[in-house]
Amino acid sequence: MTLIFGIETSCDETAAAVVEATADGKLHVRANIVASQVEMHRKYGGVFPEVAARMHVETIHAVAREALAVAAVEPAALSAIAVTKGPGLAGSLLVGVNFAKGLALAWEKPLIGVNHLEGHLYSLWLSEHADLLRFPAVCLLISGGHTELILVRAYRDYALLGSTLDDAVGEAFDKVARVLGLGYPGGPAIERAAREGNPSAYAFARADLGEERPYAFSFSGIKTAVMRAVQPQPAHGKRARGEESLREGRLRPDVNIADVAASFQAAVVEMLIAPTLRAAESYGATAIWLAGGVSANKYLRQQLSARTQLPVYAPPLPLCTDNAAMIAAAGYFRYAAGQRDSLALDVLPMLPLVSP
Ligand SMILES: Nc1ncnc2c1ncn2[C@@H]1O[C@H](COP(=O)(O)OP(=O)(O)OP(=O)(O)O)[C@@H](O)[C@H]1O
Ligand SMILES: [Mg+2]
Repeated sequence: MTLIFGIETSCDETAAAVVEATADGKLHVRANIVASQVEMHRKYGGVFPEVAARMHVETIHAVAREALAVAAVEPAALSAIAVTKGPGLAGSLLVGVNFAKGLALAWEKPLIGVNHLEGHLYSLWLSEHADLLRFPAVCLLISGGHTELILVRAYRDYALLGSTLDDAVGEAFDKVARVLGLGYPGGPAIERAAREGNPSAYAFARADLGEERPYAFSFSGIKTAVMRAVQPQPAHGKRARGEESLREGRLRPDVNIADVAASFQAAVVEMLIAPTLRAAESYGATAIWLAGGVSANKYLRQQLSARTQLPVYAPPLPLCTDNAAMIAAAGYFRYAAGQRDSLALDVLPMLPLVSP
């Protein structure tokens, strides 16, 4: 039996987890503790890096203790400590990496640095479909900071097929939610509001990047289109003060928020699905995988499944957004492959999943 202790502090969640790998190679989550800073960041309408790092410092010790207690595991029984080394906010990453180094030193355990995006990918191995995952697969990795189509050829063997040219899709959900006054984080709020709305009410133009960039995405256009559709027109002769009205959530009186949310979500989902299906066909994928915070979106899951004969696999809902179980899962595969990092392990805020 292998027991991996995972630590994640790349953004605004302080998380620790214990994942067990049994002899048959299956992964089981023994504990998954996430202390969210969302209430603190809500008042800023997004993550405030300096505050995030300080809150990790305050919380990480208690979160780690709780993970061990819930898993009923003594430190001596652990096989390794896995920690997110990047990408993410430098100050936040430093808290987790230094804490993990302290544990590795004190408990005399191997230290394994994990790529946060690889963590999102390996959250699929914590789903009920883990036994069904086969290569090659096309993974749509969609989160607050990333929108990438990845060809997964084997464990730890990836190729980047395409990514967003501007905003990440989660960022677009968050910005539009802010414009609509739906709060932060925006993805779940838009999904909820959209349930009561008409997805055809607004014809937001879909970005089509054509044959030149068949696997790329763009979300800045639709974000602007939504703002134009819902915000009051500036008085004649005055420049539109987008940021100001964005903060205030001022809307035209005739705006139906549910309709805007549903139309926006439908357009975004359409823009995610088209390149994904193209990639799955071109590369002979055995399945389409979803990962990252936006993969929690049930409308996306339904629409994608309805549009392909291929199986669509996604992580369990609580493991879509940031957590340490996924870091422990990715850490397990690295541990099994022999990766060991020294106490010189550094943070890499811009670390890509696939090196160019
Ligand atoms: N149901 C949902 N529908 C759409 N978006 C969602 C949903 N749930 C969460 N999100 C979005 O997911 C994002 C958070 O995902 P995640 O925690 O993976 O991102 P991150 O860690 O901040 O970014 P990255 O992983 O790129 O570093 C937010 O933008 C949030 O609005
Ligand atoms: Mg993430």
